[in-house]
Amino acid sequence: MVRTKMLASLMFSLGIIALSLAWIPVPDASAADPNTFNRLMKPPAKRNLPPTEDGIHDPESIGAQGLQTPREAFTPLPKGQSGNYVDWVKAFDDKQIQPRFDRDDPKAKPVIMDLTIVREVKGTMPDVIFPHKQHTEWLDCSNCHPAVFVPQKGANQMSMASIMLGESCGVCHGKVAFPVADCRRCHTEAKGKAAKTSAKAAAKPAAKPAVSKKK
Ligand code: HEC
Ligand code: HEC
Ligand code: HEC
Repeated sequence: MVRTKMLASLMFSLGIIALSLAWIPVPDASAADPNTFNRLMKPPAKRNLPPTEDGIHDPESIGAQGLQTPREAFTPLPKGQSGNYVDWVKAFDDKQIQPRFDRDDPKAKPVIMDLTIVREVKGTMPDVIFPHKQHTEWLDCSNCHPAVFVPQKGANQMSMASIMLGESCGVCHGKVAFPVADCRRCHTEAKGKAAKTSAKAAAKPAAKPAVSKKK
């Protein structure tokens, strides 16, 4: 008896829900897609849209219409895992792109520094390798030192939380460089390797301590 009553009231409320659903206007596709606000998680068809559709450029502007579309520009470049799906470091190494180091001076050459910093990570994630080489091929020392990082190994507080809030490595990663979602591009060194390297360096005083060369 109680059961049938409950069932009846359930059917009744379902009926109301169905009725009210019929009255709700059908949301457009953009509202239905929970990821539209998240530029890092676009479905394949929505990645690297042409300038007139990307929501950044003014679609009315003739300039935007004249720009080469990213898809066209990116197609010949090596594929990446995330962001705009180009492996920019490889594209640079393969000389498929030759970015100007100084906007105003086409002849300016970068000061490339091959110094790798190992940041030991708490927990189970592999340690983080920060390669100066790949950064200084594009960037000036002053892009990072001293405003973002004091140039001294271990002197800077870094955490995943601050990176996701757009500080530390997050000043660029997730904005102009590959995003935080690409965990294994930063967390590359197996645990304990840094400790071993520095132990070796301590045993052999001629070697540079705690700084390992890579690539
Ligand atoms: C993309 C950011 C970035 C750029 C560009 C950059 N650095 Fe660094 N640098 C770092 C980080 C991160 C560290 C490590 C800081 C830490 O461990 O707390 C560091 C550390 C250093 C250190 C300390 C090394 C040690 O063993 O104590 C020196 C010296 C240094 N950088 C010099 C330079 C010079 C010179 C340039 C330009 C040729 C440069 N950096 C460009 C991010 C950068
Ligand atoms: C000033 C901007 C900037 C900061 C700050 C920065 N990076 Fe980068 N990083 C770049 C750019 C630009 C690239 C090359 C483009 C790309 O790969 O998206 C890059 C590439 C890399 C690469 C790829 C190297 C390779 O061989 O593929 C790693 C790893 C990396 N960054 C780690 C870090 C870590 C760890 C930090 C913080 C300690 C950091 N970056 C801080 C701009 C920055
Ligand atoms: C741009 C480089 C970069 C990327 C990408 C990145 N991390 Fe990190 N991660 C760091 C740095 C730098 C630290 C701080 C290391 C230290 O303590 O010196 C860190 C620290 C951590 C820690 C230790 C706890 C903490 O907050 O300090 C964990 C866990 C972690 N990362 C997980 C992840 C996961 C999961 C992802 C992918 C979703 C990720 N990381 C992507 C650079 C990166």
